[in-house]
Amino acid sequence: MSSELKVGIVGAPRGSAFARSFQVISETRVTALCDINEDVLGRIADQYGIEERYTDYEKMVQGDLDIVAVTTPMPFHAPQAIMALEEGKHVISEVPAATDLEQCYRLAEAVRASDRKYMMAENYLYTKPNVLIRELAHQGLFGEVYFGEGEYIHELKELNERTPWRRKWQTGVNGCTYPTHSLGPLLQWMKDRVATVACFGSGHHYQDPRGDIYENEDTTFMICKLERGGLVNIRLDMLSDRPHNLSYYSLQGTKGCYEAPRGFGDGPKIWLADYSDNPNQWRSLWDFEEEFMPEIWKNPPEEALRAGHGGGDYFEIREFVDAIIHDTKPPVDVFKALDMTVPGLISEMSINRGGVPLPVPDFRNIRRFPEDLPGGDRILGQP
Ligand SMILES: NC(=O)c1ccc[n+]([C@@H]2O[C@H](COP(=O)([O-])OP(=O)(O)OC[C@H]3O[C@@H](n4cnc5c(N)ncnc54)[C@H](O)[C@@H]3O)[C@@H](O)[C@H]2O)c1
Repeated sequence: MSSELKVGIVGAPRGSAFARSFQVISETRVTALCDINEDVLGRIADQYGIEERYTDYEKMVQGDLDIVAVTTPMPFHAPQAIMALEEGKHVISEVPAATDLEQCYRLAEAVRASDRKYMMAENYLYTKPNVLIRELAHQGLFGEVYFGEGEYIHELKELNERTPWRRKWQTGVNGCTYPTHSLGPLLQWMKDRVATVACFGSGHHYQDPRGDIYENEDTTFMICKLERGGLVNIRLDMLSDRPHNLSYYSLQGTKGCYEAPRGFGDGPKIWLADYSDNPNQWRSLWDFEEEFMPEIWKNPPEEALRAGHGGGDYFEIREFVDAIIHDTKPPVDVFKALDMTVPGLISEMSINRGGVPLPVPDFRNIRRFPEDLPGGDRILGQP
């Protein structure tokens, strides 16, 4: 491996956040950018001083690169990641990992066949409060964790018009169409995966500018039964008129509980039995920062804070590059990526059948598609 890893990025707007992070990591250099929109391509390549510019992804991916970052709209993530792996590149992909079960299967097979690294860039794992909760949970301070809630409430009606793929893939489909930001941290804290999903919605109360009703119900609830018996509830709402709340979480264990802020004037609050004489007394999460926050987060490099999403965008790329350099497993490998992605795909099938609970395939065990899918007919059959 040469001392500097060459990076190519596909999908310029979101790719700019990745370019910022790769540029401040001394072991990497962004040498190529691809976008089918030449104006956006030129503007962002100029902004970040990226020399090689492509409108044809296949050409970029065949070039002299070590890493490809896939930051295009959702349906391209898996096919473009697969193509890069087949060309011998390491891949970091935006969320979700895939948009249907066959893509999931093909992605898992491509990673298995490759000696390169694949990571899904779930940046909400890396926000400051979420990193601290991970540490507390993994050190056992919550006891046995058995319940969690996640919410992604982000009104996107106007953005849907500027990025029409969202109108098709996020609000043009019913179910929990964008689950990984809320589900991902909970699965990481609970060290579990979803075994069964049921999904319900609150009805349709909004229309797009053409007068068409959004196919996605305003709020959806994805109820997840975990493999070890715990429960997780995910609320997704991209349509209701209201202020954002992108990252609400709660966590319950036998020895503690946590509630993220729900906006205005609130702070993250926690109760831990080992650190309290009073079972009714919340404490601030930040009371535990000095003792439990990993060192890198106590004094984050300035560039981490500039990179976006509260430092999350920088730390995820730092850990991906470390996995390449030290030849270790990336923190969100393909199977963890699918653990965060597949429940959302199954939720779309559940909601269209009145909320019937459906099994969530574990692609670690699926070597033939669709033959190995659990309850294959129930999953793939028509509503
Ligand atoms: N993790 C996060 O916090 C976060 C934040 C924003 C966006 N995203 C994700 O990033 C991705 C992109 O989102 P966005 O808001 O930048 O979308 P966008 O529509 O603004 O940009 C997508 C770009 O991809 C280009 N493109 C489309 N098809 C292409 C192809 N086949 N080859 C090359 N370029 C192609 C388009 O021309 C466009 O410039 C989405 O998957 C989105 O979910 C994640």
